[in-house]
Amino acid sequence: MDRLVVEGGVKLKGEVRISGAKNAVLPILAATLLTDEPCVISGVPELCDVMTMLRILKSLGKIAEFHNGVVTVTSGRHANFVADYKLVSTMRASFCVLGPLLAKFKKAKVSLPGGCVIGVRPVDLHLKGLKALGADISIESGYVMAKAARLRGNNMYLGGVYGSSVLGTDNVMMAATLAHGRTIIENAACEPEVADLADFLNKMGARITGQGTPIIEIQGVKHLRGAEHTIIPDRIEAATFMVAAMITGGDITIKNVCPQHLGAIIDKIEESGAVLARTDGTLRIRPKRRLKPVNVTTLPYPGFPTDMQAQMMSLMAVTPGISVITEKIYPDRFMHVAELNRMGARIQREGPHAIVEGVKLLSGAPVMASDLRASASLLLAGLVAKGKTTISRIYHLDRGYEDIEQKMSALGARVWREKE
Ligand code: EPZ
Repeated sequence: MDRLVVEGGVKLKGEVRISGAKNAVLPILAATLLTDEPCVISGVPELCDVMTMLRILKSLGKIAEFHNGVVTVTSGRHANFVADYKLVSTMRASFCVLGPLLAKFKKAKVSLPGGCVIGVRPVDLHLKGLKALGADISIESGYVMAKAARLRGNNMYLGGVYGSSVLGTDNVMMAATLAHGRTIIENAACEPEVADLADFLNKMGARITGQGTPIIEIQGVKHLRGAEHTIIPDRIEAATFMVAAMITGGDITIKNVCPQHLGAIIDKIEESGAVLARTDGTLRIRPKRRLKPVNVTTLPYPGFPTDMQAQMMSLMAVTPGISVITEKIYPDRFMHVAELNRMGARIQREGPHAIVEGVKLLSGAPVMASDLRASASLLLAGLVAKGKTTISRIYHLDRGYEDIEQKMSALGARVWREKE
């Protein structure tokens, strides 16, 4: 198993190009199940999660090839509607093959996703939406069994205790594309990745409007064709590099980025003392002389994303003063707190809140990654810590960041990978 070694103390400078969005490409690959015709997806990041989704498509009878950022999906001879536990349990996002399989094959057997360290992650909203479209759903031996002679359009409210569901909206929206009649999803997730999926589906011949807003309307069609699509840039990767510039006192120009997808993040980072210059497709960021503590509350898009909570905590850990970080999407998503405290941070957790008292200097230490964004927060902390930080279990990082140590090294960071 690999680990990452980071030697702190370098101000990061230069340009970095953002990869395609992990959370857009995964459901878009699942959507290729809705047609027998070839699909070509470009701007695909080379990530473990992408490779897992390709393996799932192959297990469902597709021929899926990745080459230089382009995925080509064509139909094999034997279609299959069973998504196996062995694959689904390694990646929650694979649960979004349920909607497409049910719509295309009128039946589906998909393993329930397993547990997750960031919190309890039920799929009740996914199932509620599919039932509203007329699907007959049961849970047997850890699998969702779904069938429907013909899905029927319907109006539904898809809001839960923590608000909208990203993959829940994706799953139901994909199923509704081939349903008979019109579907309206209220309290739909507004994330740019959901809108990117809808744009791809419309290229396949779907009739979707309202994507990116809380009300999505889908007029069902009989058939979907193949299509070509380029994935939007990864706003969470871009925001992670914005924090890298702030935390090291550097100056980074971020390329292939959509500033309009980063509203809440830009707002908080500017409040903490960033100087930003944006043009179409680029964002230059550097800190003013002194950083300021800010309070952050995570919310569904366009609110501050939970996937940036840990990284923002690393920044606040070295910012003089007190800041309060409140996690409203996954109230237990604080595995990184203990590891940051091992590096000398002063963070106290109280339920869904973390009270962060900024310290002058962190010290390098051996730490352990527990999930994707926690590992990014430890990498950021290592960039400013005195001495060396070794981050183990970095397979978490590889799930969502393409070539992270090459990109960081190109900005001057002293970071390398080694065998444990
Ligand atoms: C997506 O997960 C992202 N994953 C997550 O990113 C992200 O943290 C999350 O959205 C929230 O923004 C992908 O897109 C692949 P949700 P998803 O359904 O769709 C509750 C990363 O780091 N809920 O929007 O699974 C749920 O427990 C990953 O890239 C229900 O109660 O998240 C949570 O509290 C981690 N019932 C909240 O809603 C449901 O049926 C939001 O979850 C579904 C969700």
